Amino acid sequence: MLALLLLALLQSVLILQLNRNRLRKKEDISLLQARLRMIEDKLRDRTEKWRVASETHELASRRHEQTTALLNETKEYLNSIIHSMPSMLIGVTPSGYVTHWNRAAEKATGRREAEVLGHRVDEAYPQLPHVLDWINHAIEQGTPLTHENLRMPVDPQGDVHHYDITVFPLVFSNNSGAVIRIDDVSLRVRLESMMIQSEKMLSLGGLAAGMAHEINNPLAAIVQSVQNIQRRLDPENPHNIELATPLQIDLQKVRQYLVQRDILRFLQGIQEAGSRAAGIVSNMLEFSRGSSRIEPAVDLHTVLRHAMDFFLNSLKMSQPEQAQGLRLELVPAPQLPPVPCNSSEIQQVIVNLLKNSSDASLGLSEDRRVIRLRTRRLQNMVRIQIEDHGLGMSEEVRRHIFDPFYTTKDVGQGTGLGLSISYFIITERHQGQIEVKSHPGKGTLFNIDLPLRRNEELGG
Ligand SMILES: Nc1ncnc2c1ncn2[C@@H]1O[C@H](COP(=O)(O)OP(=O)(O)OP(=O)(O)O)[C@@H](O)[C@H]1O
Ligand SMILES: [Mg+2]
Repeated sequence: MLALLLLALLQSVLILQLNRNRLRKKEDISLLQARLRMIEDKLRDRTEKWRVASETHELASRRHEQTTALLNETKEYLNSIIHSMPSMLIGVTPSGYVTHWNRAAEKATGRREAEVLGHRVDEAYPQLPHVLDWINHAIEQGTPLTHENLRMPVDPQGDVHHYDITVFPLVFSNNSGAVIRIDDVSLRVRLESMMIQSEKMLSLGGLAAGMAHEINNPLAAIVQSVQNIQRRLDPENPHNIELATPLQIDLQKVRQYLVQRDILRFLQGIQEAGSRAAGIVSNMLEFSRGSSRIEPAVDLHTVLRHAMDFFLNSLKMSQPEQAQGLRLELVPAPQLPPVPCNSSEIQQVIVNLLKNSSDASLGLSEDRRVIRLRTRRLQNMVRIQIEDHGLGMSEEVRRHIFDPFYTTKDVGQGTGLGLSISYFIITERHQGQIEVKSHPGKGTLFNIDLPLRRNEELGG
């Protein structure tokens, strides 16, 4: 019985225990479930956050890509602006090392950007010897530095161009540097000097008209008188014979004497020079009236040969010692087309230039006393070159030679009008160009370009 009781007690204790265990398990499970839910919540939260973060990142990286593309585009755009500028643009560091070199700089210097990047600008562009000082100065002062109308040689033949140069200082994010801008202003300088020249010539026109009128009368008297003398010395002229016979003068013998003493040649010379002077005077009158006849087409070589003959003959007569040993040579271009021009005006120009060249080679050794004329066909022009190996001229003289009344010759030797009239004939009358290159002590070269096509305005 006791055993049964014990068994029943044990059974109830076990049942109790089991119930308690079941209860505890239930609690555990619900606790676990709560934790699971919490973890799920956290996971969802994290996933959401991660999604948001990843979207933000994607957006940022897309934006970054867009910004980079935009930056590249802007860089290319700026580069194309820099390269398409007609000015030379050179970017440099404060110590003068090249960082940018645009197409215009490549064209002007013949050096590619890749060749000069990282090199010093005065080595890359040796025609700019003081550029490092200019860069320092501009950066120190913080203001642009400008040099106008700088003359610089562009090739070994000595062609000179004029440039405007500005150095702009740059300051950017704790860095500095400079941009050098170089503009070739040769054309502007030439146009300015041509305008000044034609203004001077206009005022000269009035003066020329007055002078021409004054000179015309005595000149006509000289030419007529010489013609009369020639006629009255003619041994065949019946009136001369009629007057000489009673005086027992043998006109044939007189003629022989005049020939032997070169007197007839001198008279011929006076007559030719007088007619030439009359031609010049009438040209001057035409200038002042603003008209002259342009012949449709002229053989330029004939005009040049006439001018050379006339010059040499008149020099032999007036200054035989200067004519001694002087050589004039013509190197004609083959098949030169006829040129529309006023042949007597062009002859006048050539004679003026020959006279100057001959003066400049006076007293020099024989090999330097040669004046060479050449012709060349250019695209729409014909070029006449007159070259001497005389004394040449300094830059200062060269700048003034086309000015009316500018002369370096002694009083009575030169009027200073030869080149200004020549300039007027070529540029105004023929719409051509005349330019000069000269090396002191070596010689001088004049280039005259005459247009081939006859223009409506040609001849004013
Ligand atoms: N071939 C040359 N070589 C050196 N100097 C020259 C030459 N041609 C011209 N010149 C210089 O230019 C100056 C002006 O020349 P331009 O012919 O106008 O006047 P000029 O010869 O002095 O006088 P003009 O011709 O009126 O008698 C000359 O005085 C001379 O100094
Ligand atoms: Mg002269």
